[in-house]
Amino acid sequence: MEFNDVRLQYEQLSEEIDSAVAGVFSSGRFILGSSLQSFEEEFARYCGATYAIGVGNGTEALQLALLACGVGAGDEVVTSASTSPFTALAIAMTGARPVLVDVDAQTHTMAPDALVAALGPRVRAIVPVHLYGQPADMDPILALARPRGIRVVEDACQAHGAEYRGRRVGTLADAAAFSFYPTKNLGAVGDGGAVVTADADVAARVRMLRDGGRADRDRHVVRGVNSRLDELQAAILRVKLRRLDEWNARRRALAGLYRDGLAGAPVGLPFEAPWARHVYHLFVVRSTARDALRARLAADGIDTLVHYPIPLHRQEAFRHLGHAPGAFPNAERDAAEVLSLPLFPQLADEQVARVCRAIVAG
Ligand SMILES: Cc1ncc(COP(=O)(O)O)c(C=O)c1O
Repeated sequence: MEFNDVRLQYEQLSEEIDSAVAGVFSSGRFILGSSLQSFEEEFARYCGATYAIGVGNGTEALQLALLACGVGAGDEVVTSASTSPFTALAIAMTGARPVLVDVDAQTHTMAPDALVAALGPRVRAIVPVHLYGQPADMDPILALARPRGIRVVEDACQAHGAEYRGRRVGTLADAAAFSFYPTKNLGAVGDGGAVVTADADVAARVRMLRDGGRADRDRHVVRGVNSRLDELQAAILRVKLRRLDEWNARRRALAGLYRDGLAGAPVGLPFEAPWARHVYHLFVVRSTARDALRARLAADGIDTLVHYPIPLHRQEAFRHLGHAPGAFPNAERDAAEVLSLPLFPQLADEQVARVCRAIVAG
């Protein structure tokens, strides 16, 4: 059983996708055209935000959102030690220094208690990560940030359509970064990303930065980057966006089947926080014998993955940050124990039952 089979999305939507692609080819416009403009309007509306700006990938969405919020060299930006390394890479790409804090033992998201100690005078922004599809606990994070004038940018790369206290991610802070990497809840057929915000200044800056820092065709007024979501990706994302709610509901239903099927099994189940509508980008269990369990499932033909086996402070690329091994006990424990089981909208109920049987049998 594959961990995620994105071909099935195309099987489901091939007519609509083929027609969207043909429309782009016959338009002759491949960059910054009407498909992107429509997708940006539709995705902003979906999130309940005012602006969405399509960019090349989620990493650059985070980089540009931070730059647009005024982050740069000499600043510090706080994020959690247990996330995709691309989160910290995006911070480093602004010239700022990533500062890591531990995650909550239950939710895997930034622990507000740990955050307080990291808020030194150079901290310009905080990046809470809505990891695995569950929003971070934003209220205490915002309560710490606002009086100190610290900007908050959501890393929503794994959480399209997730809700925090009834509000969709993307509307919870100064700006948010989304990834449309093919396996995400809303995925392109290549790289893609977006910045979502209600702040007109931030939106205007991101729009300029993604297009080389140009004010118009010939005048480059800041040193931007080339990071534009292309027309083909935007046209395909428009088709898939119409399915996102249905697909997220299916992910939640499959998560429910896993919970029932694994009740009593020797694995820890994902904790759904009372504030969250989790959209299960990943269904992540815990096991103190994770590697043995993973090998056993592989022998049964069931693919699994580990998100993430190396916490950020132990990554070679971030060794210079100077965090000691053991500095973040919850992140260390997650790295040793977490296991992501197959979960995607096209997975059949029977396949989930098969994974559960294989785990319970152990
Ligand atoms: C939490 C998180 N942040 C950032 C990224 C970076 O997104 P992308 O791969 O589109 O650059 C990803 C996806 O890989 C992610 O899962």
